[in-house]
Amino acid sequence: MRLEGRTAVVTGGTRGLGRAIADTFLREGARVVVASRTPGNWSIPKDVCGAEAFFHSVDVCDSDSVRHLMDVAVDRWGSLDIVVANAGVSRPGTVDNLSPEHWNEVLNTNATGVFHCAQAAIPYLSASDSGRLITMSSVLGSRYAPGASAYGASKAAVEAFTRILALELASQNTTVNCLAPGFIDEGMGVHLRGNTAVWEKYRPKLASKRMGQGEEVASAALFLAGDESSYVNGAVLEVNGGLLW
Ligand SMILES: NC(=O)c1ccc[n+]([C@@H]2O[C@H](COP(=O)([O-])OP(=O)(O)OC[C@H]3O[C@@H](n4cnc5c(N)ncnc54)[C@H](OP(=O)(O)O)[C@@H]3O)[C@@H](O)[C@H]2O)c1
Repeated sequence: MRLEGRTAVVTGGTRGLGRAIADTFLREGARVVVASRTPGNWSIPKDVCGAEAFFHSVDVCDSDSVRHLMDVAVDRWGSLDIVVANAGVSRPGTVDNLSPEHWNEVLNTNATGVFHCAQAAIPYLSASDSGRLITMSSVLGSRYAPGASAYGASKAAVEAFTRILALELASQNTTVNCLAPGFIDEGMGVHLRGNTAVWEKYRPKLASKRMGQGEEVASAALFLAGDESSYVNGAVLEVNGGLLW
């Protein structure tokens, strides 16, 4: 029960990696607000006795909506210790084909959404004994593939933002770290499983020669959320099975 007594908000927690992270936090004793635009088929995991969690609707592109989310968490449980700014979208397309709407959607959700979460959470995280902000990048934040301009740019922004905010909050007992998953067989990564042409291109570059699991990303999030990472700050933790791109 490494997160017993802690309160967490996980954006994009209804499915994919966010759900795996929220479930892991609940199993470790945290109270969790699971937030996204729609609840989808999210429910409290059946194997967690006495789990304290609820869904709250949020659009991370809307600063007021995000502010309300953080307020709701604190109103319910009195404190906020951990925020995982995980919500994200991907709109692939080469630059000559990418619509400005898709570019803006990706940048607004993935980059500005993280800014909104951080800004709304800072007063609460700073009041915690061990505030933790965890952002979500991707292998495409630091390696480059055609067709990933909006997504890659948004994730590169998240990594820079993470490091700068870590400096800004270092004196306030709050760490800011980033996860950069690779090819994960969960959420938006699932489509790769059935795409033999693309998968066979990338598989030889992977030391582990397999896709990762959502639980493996969640374990890294648990490390960053817990006491064990107290001296880890401004880090981008790659969870990619050894990608020698
Ligand atoms: N899966 C992978 O292989 C992989 C690899 C590297 C990085 N990542 C990153 O990991 C994060 C999660 O990805 P995933 O694969 O789990 O994706 P996913 O399965 O598509 O889930 C995305 C989540 O974000 C929510 N969301 C999207 N736009 C939102 C908005 N404007 N406001 C609030 N919530 C929003 C979605 O719910 P609603 O649509 O209901 O709002 C959903 O809960 C993303 O940041 C992604 O870039 C994933």
